[in-house]
Amino acid sequence: MKAPRKFFEPLAIGAPAPLRELPVRLERMIHFIPPHVEKMRAKAAEIAAQVDVVLGNLEDAVPIDAKQAARDGFIAMAQATDFGATGLWARVNALNSPWIVDDLTRLVGEVGDKLDVLMIPKIEGDWDIHFVDQYLALLEARYGLKKPILIHAILETAQGVKNVGDIAASSPRLHGMSLGPADLAASRAMKTTRVGGGHPDYRVLADPSAAGGARIAAQQDPWHYTIARMVDACAANGIKAFYGPFGDFSDPEACEAQFRNAFLLGCAGAWTLHPSQIALAQKVFSPDPAEVGFAQKILAAMPDGSGAVMIDGKMQDDATWKQAKVLVDLARQVAAKDADMAKLYGLS
Ligand code: GLV
Ligand code: MG
Repeated sequence: MKAPRKFFEPLAIGAPAPLRELPVRLERMIHFIPPHVEKMRAKAAEIAAQVDVVLGNLEDAVPIDAKQAARDGFIAMAQATDFGATGLWARVNALNSPWIVDDLTRLVGEVGDKLDVLMIPKIEGDWDIHFVDQYLALLEARYGLKKPILIHAILETAQGVKNVGDIAASSPRLHGMSLGPADLAASRAMKTTRVGGGHPDYRVLADPSAAGGARIAAQQDPWHYTIARMVDACAANGIKAFYGPFGDFSDPEACEAQFRNAFLLGCAGAWTLHPSQIALAQKVFSPDPAEVGFAQKILAAMPDGSGAVMIDGKMQDDATWKQAKVLVDLARQVAAKDADMAKLYGLS
């Protein structure tokens, strides 16, 4: 393990120092754009105005013969677009792929000063983050970058889940992590063909009743365990957890339910792969005004956050005060960006 004093030292001569605090940014949706498709690139500024993060995807879903076009397209899009306060991320190819060296070198060299975060797929352990950390530091030094580019890991292999705690603690460059349910399902040999969400056969069946009749069955969330482990690993290390993709665009209700479970368990946002999912993510990952209202009552009733009070018949103490603060702090971030939500939260 690296000595604590060394943790914040630059990894290359001339590279910017690692950040001690991560930027506080609202990242309710990470919206995927296929940068090899010119029509989509042309809409980048329009999309940036609607989302918290725009991500150019160079990895899976980009055909092999379009990998270079996607990289070139991302660079052109980044150079041509003013993203304003919206984050600019790229998902590069896997660390064992033939594209990663050029992905990293060209993105850092040509648009490194505009890039906030690089999403790295199929992270298996802390060694993968250490490699990217060092390589980025060398590139940042070579190209004279002033601020470090952050790393976001995709948690999408069984080995990655096994090592999630080590990954989360691996580097001050780590921004957070996303669950990748499609690759993870394959890695685990789950017998499914879906991109996230539930499965009608993954359920719990009620005991038979003496009176007979149909037994109630309820679908369970196959991602609960992984999301909970990821959230604990991230929260313990001061980084953010995200739910990844939901592939059934024809089922917005199920997408909303999956996003909401992730939100309630501690995730900051989710990926949006289709424009119809942007509004869903915005709704789910902005706290409910009624909950925020109740949280504001708790904070007002316990100004120093200690003791115990009753509000609407419910006991409040230091722990509920802290929960309330999470909600109100998030509402403040949303309100700073969205005047309509600010009114609903009473924060305008
Ligand atoms: C995302 O990359 C996934 O595999 O779900
Ligand atoms: Mg994947």
